[in-house]
Amino acid sequence: MGVQGKSASTQRLADQTEFRGNGKINRKVAIGAVAGLAVLATVLGVAIGVPLSKRQADNTDGSTSLQRARDILSNNPLIDGHNDLPWQYKKQANNSVESIDLEQSLKGIWSPTHTDIPRLREGRVGAQFWAAYVPCDSQYKDAVRLSFEQCDTVRRFVKKFPDTFQFVTSAQEIEDAFAAGKIGSMIGLEGGHSIDSSLATLRMFYDVGVRYMTVTHSCNTPWADNWLEDEKPLAEQEFGGLSAFGELVILEMNRLGMLVDLSHVSKATMEDALRVTKAPVIYSHTSAYTICNHYRNVQDDVLQLTKENNGVVMVNFYDKYINCPPGNTTNATLSQVADHIDHIKDLIGADYVGIGADYDGVATLPQGLEDVSTYPEMFAELIDRGWTDEDLIKLAGGNLLRVFRAAEEVSKQMAADGVPPYEELIDESTLKNKSCRWEGY
Ligand SMILES: *[C@@H]1O[C@H](CO)[C@@H](O)[C@H](O)[C@H]1NC(C)=O
Ligand SMILES: *[C@@H]1O[C@H](CO)[C@@H](O)[C@H](O)[C@H]1NC(C)=O
Ligand SMILES: *[C@@H]1O[C@H](CO)[C@@H](O)[C@H](O)[C@H]1NC(C)=O
Repeated sequence: MGVQGKSASTQRLADQTEFRGNGKINRKVAIGAVAGLAVLATVLGVAIGVPLSKRQADNTDGSTSLQRARDILSNNPLIDGHNDLPWQYKKQANNSVESIDLEQSLKGIWSPTHTDIPRLREGRVGAQFWAAYVPCDSQYKDAVRLSFEQCDTVRRFVKKFPDTFQFVTSAQEIEDAFAAGKIGSMIGLEGGHSIDSSLATLRMFYDVGVRYMTVTHSCNTPWADNWLEDEKPLAEQEFGGLSAFGELVILEMNRLGMLVDLSHVSKATMEDALRVTKAPVIYSHTSAYTICNHYRNVQDDVLQLTKENNGVVMVNFYDKYINCPPGNTTNATLSQVADHIDHIKDLIGADYVGIGADYDGVATLPQGLEDVSTYPEMFAELIDRGWTDEDLIKLAGGNLLRVFRAAEEVSKQMAADGVPPYEELIDESTLKNKSCRWEGY
């Protein structure tokens, strides 16, 4: 498969900034300027790029699109699939939850980050999957410990701000927290390397509250291929998708009721997982390949399979996944993110699209979507494009709730059918690195 106008190295470079590098973001000035404009625009009742008349006149009750967007999100949960605030705690404070007052603006305290409580409230965030991410470099080393530490960080900052957050582990609890005015907070484990090829470890992550696992990050596990493999022909990819053990990982996630997250995996891994899974899947932070041909994005034929699976693609806002060469001579815009959302809706329907912005996991973002306060601007844009309230509610969180409930039902059904925990072990001889293995049997 061709790389369509993009060399392997530029793709790799692009993904390295989907976070985590120490590529410290130096865009304070630009943010300031854009934020200033945004404030001005808000005061005037317009949003960047949208004609004044449109934003003001469209709604029968005379409200602006932005007011209508805020209303919808105040009454229906916006459930974002992926936020890397826990990694910012790790990078910027060695996970010292006690030293950070999230109720204050973190602007100017941490080097540019996207998330704090005032901005979550302004953005009408209803529930959030917080990512427990650890670097691929820790695979075969201390990935498991580091991952449990990130879970501890989420659980502690949630507990520290009980007026804002509520730790939740089910679809119903998301709705209950929202009804109580709390941001339902869940853990998503970002990468199969975090379980060290151990189904027992997977089960223990479930028990501390993890409700999705991203099958890979940007590295292969000993049982699944990641998106970088798509730079090679299928025949040269390590597994060409999932290995037999990888299929068991999917089934054990189904049995537990843990959502299968297909962001970051190769196309063949998506296809294998969609074939094997008994429950609908999610893509916690992935956009549309047809609009931006980066392999982190999902291709149209896999979107069709995802519709058959009844899953949900939660669109990533990272500018490098939104605006690809050759169109990227200008910065990505909010309107281009809406193009991704519209593409998925137009191709497979509004029942299969959601939001997984990847705030605090990326260095740069489109104009108008600079931090977690900006979600209503995105919804206002979609209102201007003719989206109905019903579809906006599905996009915000309705689709994720449907998928979550379906995964819970599959888990119950497997229990009713007497499916026992999977006890298979990976063949240790297949591991590339056994330096941290105990061999004293
Ligand atoms: C975290 O701790 C390490 C040593 O354990 C230290 O080198 C590093 O500077 C610390 N980072 C921060 C942000 O405090
Ligand atoms: C466009 O994207 C490519 C690949 O990600 C990158 O190398 C290039 O610098 C980008 N161009 C601009 C103008 O940002
Ligand atoms: C995009 O925005 C960044 C600031 O975030 C700026 O440094 C850069 O020059 C812009 N690139 C283009 C092509 O406009």
